Amino acid sequence: MIQKYVYGKPFSTEAVVTEVPAGEGTPAYGRIETGTGFCFTYIMEETDIVYGLGEANRGLNKRGYCYISDCTDDPNHTEDKRSLYGAHNFIVVSGRETFGLFFDYPSAMTFDIGYTRMDTLQVSCQDADLNLYVIDGDSPYDIVKQFRKIIGRSYIPPKYAFGFGQSRWGYKTKEDFRKVADGYRENQIPLDMVYMDIDYMQDFKDFTLNEKNFPDFKDFVREMKNRNLRLIPIIDAGVKVEEGYDVYEEGVKNRYFCQREDGSDFVAAVWPGNTHFPDVLNDEARAWFGDKYRILTEQGIEGFWNDMNEPAIFYSPEGIDGLKGMLKQFLETENYNSGVNAGTLAVAPTSDTNGSAESESAGASIWPLMGKIGGLANSKDDYRRFYHRVNGERIRHDKVHNLFGYYMTRAAGEAFERIDPEKRFLMFSRSSYIGMHRYGGIWMGDNKSWWSHILLNLKMLPSLNMCGFLYTGADLGGFGADTTRDLLLRWLALGVFTPLMRDHAAAGTRDQECYQFEDLTDFRHVVGVRYRLIPYLYSEYMKAALNDDLYFKPLAFVYPEDPMAVQVEDQMMLGNEIMIAPVYTQNARGRYVYLPEEMKFVKFLPDGSISGEILPKGHHYVEIALNEVPLFIRSGKCIPLAETAEYVEALDTEHLTMLGYPGAEYTLYEDDGVGKNYDRAENYRTLKYSK
Ligand code: GLC
Repeated sequence: MIQKYVYGKPFSTEAVVTEVPAGEGTPAYGRIETGTGFCFTYIMEETDIVYGLGEANRGLNKRGYCYISDCTDDPNHTEDKRSLYGAHNFIVVSGRETFGLFFDYPSAMTFDIGYTRMDTLQVSCQDADLNLYVIDGDSPYDIVKQFRKIIGRSYIPPKYAFGFGQSRWGYKTKEDFRKVADGYRENQIPLDMVYMDIDYMQDFKDFTLNEKNFPDFKDFVREMKNRNLRLIPIIDAGVKVEEGYDVYEEGVKNRYFCQREDGSDFVAAVWPGNTHFPDVLNDEARAWFGDKYRILTEQGIEGFWNDMNEPAIFYSPEGIDGLKGMLKQFLETENYNSGVNAGTLAVAPTSDTNGSAESESAGASIWPLMGKIGGLANSKDDYRRFYHRVNGERIRHDKVHNLFGYYMTRAAGEAFERIDPEKRFLMFSRSSYIGMHRYGGIWMGDNKSWWSHILLNLKMLPSLNMCGFLYTGADLGGFGADTTRDLLLRWLALGVFTPLMRDHAAAGTRDQECYQFEDLTDFRHVVGVRYRLIPYLYSEYMKAALNDDLYFKPLAFVYPEDPMAVQVEDQMMLGNEIMIAPVYTQNARGRYVYLPEEMKFVKFLPDGSISGEILPKGHHYVEIALNEVPLFIRSGKCIPLAETAEYVEALDTEHLTMLGYPGAEYTLYEDDGVGKNYDRAENYRTLKYSK
């Protein structure tokens, strides 16, 4: 049962798409205060578990830290970070009392989950204007499914998007892209997509193509398509300020960009230098921006990734002016010899320090200046400097900050419906809010080539699924920093199972395409296993999407009575048949796993054969070599396997073999992979593993 409690005047985020009855009185759980801002407090039992928050740092059980839903462009995902790119305000408390909460609030929101006091859950925000949904159910799993129903069906990508993709920030010319195509095709490593990062554009202008490198883009798209590869271009949030650039001029003329208080178009510097942000919260501006994707779909493009849509700001003219003022003061100061306290004084004046003392020491010390430079990017001041126009009302950006990525992606999703309502387009975004899951997937942003990030990637998967984001994955091999061959192989062995499977790396880092490393056969094998599994993975994805269910589940959702299973965070259930347990430690030759029931331990071996061993319930150490892909099949179940193929459309799904327990049956979902006839009975067929 779900009940809705309304506080103040909430902004309509359209995260929830179903009518939910209003709750009577106050929610049955916790205590709510609305004096200054909003605060929900609940005292937790020691063993209560808190699930949710989608794209967030740390564990599957969110207890023990403080998270802030505040979409942030921060590429350093260290353990101390409180905000990542998404804002997913859904949690489930599981324990003495079990209930779910969705705080539908589009500005910054703090989730102190046993951080200030270990027993206290406190959710707070500045304005008491929000909808709170309280969900009762039989179990956390049941609560999640109820929640998923009210937020609407998750985005369904085309089937080719289950293939492998290669990306790198730095591919510029046709030759760069051809080299990737050749590297994969000549080495028979399967590939379906090559991603185009910002350098394909002319001067980083959205919906343009570099004139020198792509004078005949349509032909190039066709050339790649003839090799069964799709090009997937990036679209950034900021539209370059440049006279003569049609998108800019139309936006200015029609007042489609976000404006300052005085009505001038707000300027933020991103990759192209000065840009304006399309006011995607405004229906008309959103439709206009969305229709721009047509410029590329008309050239044969069938998928996109939306980036920098927190929106990321490197600096604003106002920020630079402030910096210049401080710099001037600093340069006029004779005495550069100031201790660190001078800076502290300037940044945080004590009660007996007045404003003039602050500016005096600011002039004398380098520290505030350094802080100012560091604080230019993604500054809260800038987010308070511009406005959206929604239904005739002006809304300051910071009040709805977490919706920008959602509405930019919605712009594209709604436009795809106009461009070709019968067809699925690939779309995933960096920033998101619940509701966006209906229009696209997400990738997990700028991770690093660190072993700890394989684990972070794994733990985020079920949490994201709980919030509706099914089409997701991380930059395999790591985005920032230099990868290593073993890190990439181990990460790929997890990526084999994530709906979005993409190798992506930052400019300036070591080459990271699979063919850049010695003993290519290992990469051919690991990526090849992905393709063997696609009939199963696609089928489980579709069942999850069509039934508001999870593709990745914590073990706790399947084995709630097993106290050990409930604690496991480095193994996940995938679909209804398998469990995954990737290796995430360097130089490890295997790992410990916990089996909550008897399972068949399967390994895809590099010679193409598959080993299978029945293991009893309990703890095991299993050996897993660098070039092997492990999975566990639940007792009495089986999964279909195809022969591998170089691209998704080449998979032979008529001749599948079965893997698992003889005598078991599997219901396979299969459709044409591009259209939207999801609910036909013919899409399901039963396969039997008869030996
Ligand atoms: C951002 C994106 C990254 C991309 C880069 C250049 O950092 O997160 O994926 O490569 O911008 O466009």
